[in-house]
Amino acid sequence: MDINDDPTGFTSRLTIAQARTEWDVQTAFLDSCSYGPPPRRGWDALQRSLDEWRAGSVPWPQWAESVDTSRELFGRLVGVLADQVATGAAVSQLLAPIAAALPDGAEVLIPEIEFTSGVYPFAVHADRGVRVRTAPLDTLAEAVDESTTLVYFSAAQSATGEVADVPAIISAAREVGAFTVLDGTQAAGWLPLNASEVDFLAVAAYKWLCAPRGTAFLTMPSPVTVAEGSHPRRAEFFDRLKPLAAGWFAAGGAASYGMPMHLADGARAFDISPAWHSWVGTAPALELLLDVGIDQIHTHDIALANRFRTGLGLAESNSAIVSIELGIVDRSWPGAPDRLDAARVRYSQAGGNMRFGFHLFNDESDVDTALNAVTDYATA
Ligand SMILES: Cc1ncc(COP(=O)(O)O)c(C=O)c1O
Repeated sequence: MDINDDPTGFTSRLTIAQARTEWDVQTAFLDSCSYGPPPRRGWDALQRSLDEWRAGSVPWPQWAESVDTSRELFGRLVGVLADQVATGAAVSQLLAPIAAALPDGAEVLIPEIEFTSGVYPFAVHADRGVRVRTAPLDTLAEAVDESTTLVYFSAAQSATGEVADVPAIISAAREVGAFTVLDGTQAAGWLPLNASEVDFLAVAAYKWLCAPRGTAFLTMPSPVTVAEGSHPRRAEFFDRLKPLAAGWFAAGGAASYGMPMHLADGARAFDISPAWHSWVGTAPALELLLDVGIDQIHTHDIALANRFRTGLGLAESNSAIVSIELGIVDRSWPGAPDRLDAARVRYSQAGGNMRFGFHLFNDESDVDTALNAVTDYATA
C-alpha cells in the first residue's frame, strides 16, 4: 500500500486510484452537490445492518456504535475533539438551538444566495426582532459591522460553488464580537476545514462525505474556549444555548426514564436520536476519506474541475464545483442539457445554474464525457 505524506497532518494510506476502486458509480456522476454515492465499504456495512434489522439478529446498540465512531472520525476530519461534535439528521435541525439562543433583535449576516437550510432557522425568529441581512459573498467580511450578532456562511456555495474567504470573514466577525457559523456541507470531503477557527461548523454528510441521507454534524466550542471569551454577549449566548431536542440519546446513549435530567457532557447533549442504519453507512465513508486525506482529494477534485472549465473556455478556479448560468449555457452551447442527459451525465440545476461537482470517484474520462456532451465536440 502506498504511503503518502499529507500536509493536513494525516498520513494518506490510500491513493486516489486505490480509493476509486471502492465506487460502483456507473455514469459520469457529477452531482456530488446533490448527493454522494457510497464507497463499497459504506454500502456493504449498510446492507449488513439492514439484513440484521430484517432478521432481528442483533441488538440495536451495535448499530448505534456507529454514531460515536462517526463523531470521532468527523472530529479528526475538521480538527476538533469528539466531545465538541453533536450529531443530528440535518443542518437546519442542528442550527435551530443556535438561532433560538440569539437575543431578541439580533442581526444575522449571510451571503445573499445562501442555501435555505442556513437561512430559515434564523429567519423564523423574525417575530422577536431577529433580522437576516444579506451581502454578496465576496464582500461579506466588509459587510460585518457593530450591528452584526452572527455571521453564517457556506465554505463553498451551493448554487455557485464559490469558495468563501473564511479567514477574512472570521477576522471581521471577531473584531465586533459576532458569532461565526460555517456551513461545510458543500465543502467537507474535498476542502480542508478547520472547525476550531469558527464557533460552529455544520455539515450534512450525504453529499461530499458520501454518506446516506440522514446524518449531519455540528461542532461547538469547548467549555474552556467559551469561558475564555471576553465579550459579554458571548457569555449570555452560551448560557442561553440549550439542547432543544434533548431526548434519551442526549443523555449519553442508554435508555432512561423520568427525572432527574442527566444530559451528556459537551456537544453530545445536542444529539438527536440517531437514524441507526444511516450512521452505519456514514462511519466507513468517513474512514475512507480520512485514509485518502483531504489534501489529496482537494488536489484531484480541483484538477478535474479545472479541466472541465478549461475545456469550456472558462477561467480556472479554486472550487470542485463548476456552476454556469443557464442563460450562458443557452447562448454558448444550445441544447447542452439534452445532450448531457443523452450521454447519461448526472449533474444538477440550482439557482438558475447548471452545476457540476467533481469528486474522488471521478476521473478525466468523466470530465471528457461531459465536455463532449456540452460542446458537442464529438459531432462538431
Ligand atoms: C450549503 C448547504 N447546507 C445544507 C444543506 C442541507 O441542509 P439540510 O441538512 O437542512 O437539508 C445543503 C443541501 O443542499 C447545502 O447545500
